[in-house]
Amino acid sequence: MSQQAPVLTVDGPGGAGKGTISRLVAERQGWHLLDSGALYRLTALAASQHAVALDDEAGLARVAAQLDVTFKTGSDAPQVLLEGEDVSGVIRTEQVGDAASRVATMPRVREALLQRQRDFRQAPGLVADGRDMGTVVFQDAPLKIFLTATAEERARRRLLQLREAGVDASLSSLLKEIQARDARDMQRSVAPLVPAEDAVELDTTHLKIPEVVDRLTELLANRGLVTVT
Ligand code: DC
Repeated sequence: MSQQAPVLTVDGPGGAGKGTISRLVAERQGWHLLDSGALYRLTALAASQHAVALDDEAGLARVAAQLDVTFKTGSDAPQVLLEGEDVSGVIRTEQVGDAASRVATMPRVREALLQRQRDFRQAPGLVADGRDMGTVVFQDAPLKIFLTATAEERARRRLLQLREAGVDASLSSLLKEIQARDARDMQRSVAPLVPAEDAVELDTTHLKIPEVVDRLTELLANRGLVTVT
């Protein structure tokens, strides 16, 4: 295992800032990025496009195993292509997110996505963003982070994001959705959302994005995984 590329795992509930933080840390280090949530979102979207029902576990596992997906990086707005079509926007909708969290409760779907996620581990390193990166997918990662923020703060951040995108939403309904998604992610029997025993927990409720990125860079440097420039 020691000759494998290093992995920084970033797990935590939705809206804690994992996506943005992971992207910025990967960019700063020139490391690869795995957005594992996108794979669950893509499975849910592909299932609806191929008329596979959300309770058909065997069908969903087949969809997951056969996902034809390309992640295009290198620009400010990374693109996700499903069967050649740009679905970067549609996979971020609440509807697809909700379907993804249902699909993600199924052991056969998770199993079907496992090797695809591990294939992202390449030199010089990987930042892996998700729910079970440190507990299941990359158990031997040399640095594991569990990022949190209060549900209220996460709802507030989501509201701002939606407003910026010109979408109208209410704080109270977003809070309810976040709490329902948290409960589903934490209570499922397979790969539930819990911090790995050896994870460093970081509460971002009162932190700004650059402060979190600096803190993670410092932790990577302390473990000898990167050199600080
Ligand atoms: O991080 P996200 O919101 O894009 O994730 C979408 C859903 O996928 C979320 O409800 C939890 C699930 N998920 C998971 O079960 N395991 C992962 N490693 C990543 C996401």
